[in-house]
Amino acid sequence: MKKPYVFITRRLPEETLGNLQEFADVRMWPYEEEPIPRETLLKEAKRADGLLTMLSDKIDAELLTNAPHLKVVANLAVGYDNIDVDKATSRGIAICNTPDVLSDTTADLTFALLMATARRLIESAEYVKGGHWKNWGPLLLAGTDIHHKTIGIIGMGRIGRAVAKRATGFEMEILYHNRSRNEEVEQELGAAYCSFDEIVERSDFLVCLAPLTAQTRGMFNEQVFKKMKPSAIFVNASRGDVVDEQALYHALTNGEIKAAGLDVFQNEPIGADHPLLSLPNVVAIPHIGSASVETRMVMAELAGRNIANVLTGNKPEAIVNEKVLS
Ligand code: GLV
Ligand code: GLV
Repeated sequence: MKKPYVFITRRLPEETLGNLQEFADVRMWPYEEEPIPRETLLKEAKRADGLLTMLSDKIDAELLTNAPHLKVVANLAVGYDNIDVDKATSRGIAICNTPDVLSDTTADLTFALLMATARRLIESAEYVKGGHWKNWGPLLLAGTDIHHKTIGIIGMGRIGRAVAKRATGFEMEILYHNRSRNEEVEQELGAAYCSFDEIVERSDFLVCLAPLTAQTRGMFNEQVFKKMKPSAIFVNASRGDVVDEQALYHALTNGEIKAAGLDVFQNEPIGADHPLLSLPNVVAIPHIGSASVETRMVMAELAGRNIANVLTGNKPEAIVNEKVLS
């Protein structure tokens, strides 16, 4: 019998592929940083039984309707807004992701970004490296305290909860907003559920970890930034499209908020000419939430197992559209 064909859209370490190679013919795009051209992706999708994809690949209706053999798309991410899940479901294609295994790593990065922004760490490091450190000064590069402040977490999923846990170590007041209440985090971590408006008004650190959906797209807009405290810091580690970047730029330049720590942007990758990068009160990093070597290896292994399980008729560990299995 012909082996199923699995295509991986970015170079991954061979050792993460596990038993996938035993029963499938596995090929991958040979570059780690250079994305696969759209035409090549479409061509590969046309013959693939399984695709292992990156969050930067657009898995849309055009691709899915021209993939007659495709049974599974395993995204190397917890988020899957790059995939037309409804279309995939209507074609019986399983969509898999990598939740849980990246929660602590992403929470570490989110908290690091919060701290770097509050304490002006990047600015300070550049100051020293740039040879500007001539004297000590009482308010030299003075930032904002983190401990005992109020953190507002938008999106209390697994990552949100791991961020809340870190905040308890800083004795922060923890507020959260989510589609549904999470009584576990209320009891375990003392987090208080708030309306969106209340959390925006009360937070010293407003941290977005909500997935990008029709409801969250553009949710941080001009009105929202106006309602925030002028001393507040905005942190985004979910998806760039939850933010109106022009509104954020205005809020930062008009003193409506103090600073922003951003791991994600509307049109990634951004170039050095992006307006937000001209602001000293912006800490910008290139979508590295889950990027520890350990976690990326585990994510790649999970994505590989998700494909192997679907192609061998077993239930994958992480599936977004479970109803395609029935
Ligand atoms: C990263 O952004 C992810 O969704 O895993
Ligand atoms: C979202 O799915 C999360 O893990 O926070």
